[in-house]
Amino acid sequence: SRSYTVTLLPGDGIGPEVISVAKNALQLVASQEGVDFKFKEMPMGGAALDLTGVPLPEETLSAAKDSDAVLLGAIGGYKWDNNEKHLKPETGLLQIRAGLKVFANLRPATVLPQLVDASTLKKEVADGVDLMVVRELTGGIYFGKPRGFGTNENGEEIGFNTEVYATYEIDRIARVAFETARKRRGKLCSVDKANVLEASMLWRKRVTELASEYPDVELSHMYVDNAAMQLIRNPKQFDTIVTNNIFGDILSDEASMITGSIGMLASASLGESGPGLFEPIHGSAPDIAGQDKANPLATVLSAAMLLKYGLGEEKAAQRIEAAVLDTLDRGYRTGDIYSAGLKLVGCKEMGEEVLKSIECKVAAA
Ligand code: NAD
Ligand code: IPM
Ligand code: MN
Repeated sequence: SRSYTVTLLPGDGIGPEVISVAKNALQLVASQEGVDFKFKEMPMGGAALDLTGVPLPEETLSAAKDSDAVLLGAIGGYKWDNNEKHLKPETGLLQIRAGLKVFANLRPATVLPQLVDASTLKKEVADGVDLMVVRELTGGIYFGKPRGFGTNENGEEIGFNTEVYATYEIDRIARVAFETARKRRGKLCSVDKANVLEASMLWRKRVTELASEYPDVELSHMYVDNAAMQLIRNPKQFDTIVTNNIFGDILSDEASMITGSIGMLASASLGESGPGLFEPIHGSAPDIAGQDKANPLATVLSAAMLLKYGLGEEKAAQRIEAAVLDTLDRGYRTGDIYSAGLKLVGCKEMGEEVLKSIECKVAAA
């Protein structure tokens, strides 16, 4: 039978709660598909800091590199917020993205028919939204040098960062985006700040040049401030969006709210080769951690992306997606997507209902 090693990185806050649900879902579809999973749980983020003194221990990175795919919960929390930069949980996350060279972060935002009422937008605006943010993940201002703290000419303290993109970085993310758009509805919107930033000027130039290789894809450009507005005004105008690291971070959180909740949005981070990294787009939600309130579906859907994009196990991925829809159809809701008349459940119970749906669907098939 097909056998895979999956590294699990539960992390902090709600991370362990949602990872436990996703792991059970993976295990169950694996048994149905005759696939064998070896799970290896490793510390990362604040949990790793407390255990080993660093946010990404070498053993964790090497385990991740040696596996077929990596599933991450979330990292971060108040306890470590004032740590020096190299000792922040978030630094560990950037290190694993860089270490695995996963430069392409796919963040789909789909309004499920079951959740139209959970969106804060009017029904007619939200209904039918289906977009994909392709976020550059290992470059830009997150990694650019020079960076640091210093003093200015008045002797005042300064903090500084650099937004920088090289041609090869733009080209490879643009290619992923053109190919993604080609498999979807053939529309690509490149979002930048080319009216102000040199890094964006080069970005727009390269994306425009590459477009000639994808004549079947309709390319447009938009400034990021306008894009933030257009996402709320008329999100259905978007199919695939490609953008830099920081704009993609912000716009994908914004897009999540169109769909009802950040607790629903999954992501896949892919490189040229090697294991992909799969994670919900939300954080460790310290405000609800440890209370069994988290929505585990973003992580369950990230596990589906792991099966599809990471392992090529399309059928197993579809089983998980179908089970999520079925659970919603049966009326189960965590607090973030709850509306009157439905069944309010916690993270664990939501997970159990997803497992039931996975079992039922097979019985029905
Ligand atoms: P967050 O995404 O953790 O939380 C924002 C809000 O959304 C909170 O009110 C939270 O309760 C809610 N929320 C998030 N996920 C949810 C879920 N699954 N179900 C229900 N509600 C959910 O963002 P934040 O509060 O800005 O950051 C908290 C910590 O997480 C910080 O330390 C931050 O650095 C970190 N963070 C980590 C990641 C990651 O690990 N990939 C991503 C974003 C933020
Ligand atoms: C995300 C998070 C991270 C990011 C932080 C925690 C480093 O917000 O995964 O979206 O900015 O990429
Ligand atoms: Mn983010």
